[in-house]
Amino acid sequence: MTTSQLQWAEPTEIRNPTSAPIAPLLAARWSPKGFDPTHVLSDEQLTSIVEAARWAPSMQNSQPWRFIVGRRGTETFAKIENGLMAFNQGWTSRASALVVFCRTPVSADGKTLPYADYDLGQAAAHFTVQAAKLGLSLRQMGGANLAAIAESFALPESIAPKSVAALGVYSDDAGSIDEKTRQADAAERTRLPLDELFAVPAE
Ligand SMILES: Cc1cc2nc3c(=O)[nH]c(=O)nc-3n(C[C@H](O)[C@H](O)[C@H](O)COP(=O)(O)O)c2cc1C
Repeated sequence: MTTSQLQWAEPTEIRNPTSAPIAPLLAARWSPKGFDPTHVLSDEQLTSIVEAARWAPSMQNSQPWRFIVGRRGTETFAKIENGLMAFNQGWTSRASALVVFCRTPVSADGKTLPYADYDLGQAAAHFTVQAAKLGLSLRQMGGANLAAIAESFALPESIAPKSVAALGVYSDDAGSIDEKTRQADAAERTRLPLDELFAVPAE
């Protein structure tokens, strides 16, 4: 598959009030709840995003990540959404796709992978940044019954769901996004001050 049908998107709105210059894509990334309910995720977009995750670093190149992706309107989407906590189900129905980030706790040759969670998080970050490069947003969710999701897909023990994400195109269109969601998405964006991130002073 070529990438010729992919549209690279440069950030149109830098939402993050950074205290030092950073890559525009990162300065623009945020996690909306308002998604355009008409947007359809293309095969090219999905392949590009998963390809980016594929190239994340991992301990001994163990690549302990697997994904479940269901586009809106599919049985897979419904199964994932059914496994979400009620406070997430309200807004996820408009997402273009729901994604389950799964971890493989052992390698192909049966060795345990102590950094599997850490590595999965890095794959999720790659996934998120590549989505941003395509003009898409992710909102990750811990508010899910992961055991129920594993059961609904009859996953083997070797594939453990760790988090869920909604993927789609941000929208604040009052015609399709409720006021509460629009307000939540417009909230001030905050972070710990930069100084607090140094466990000991940098030298
Ligand atoms: C592991 C994880 C779990 C999260 N769980 C939820 C959730 O259940 N529901 C939700 O609306 N947002 C959830 N979020 C989104 C965070 O609240 C959000 O990333 C955080 O407030 C920072 O905002 P930003 O991503 O826009 O910078 C989660 C994010 C992560 C990484």
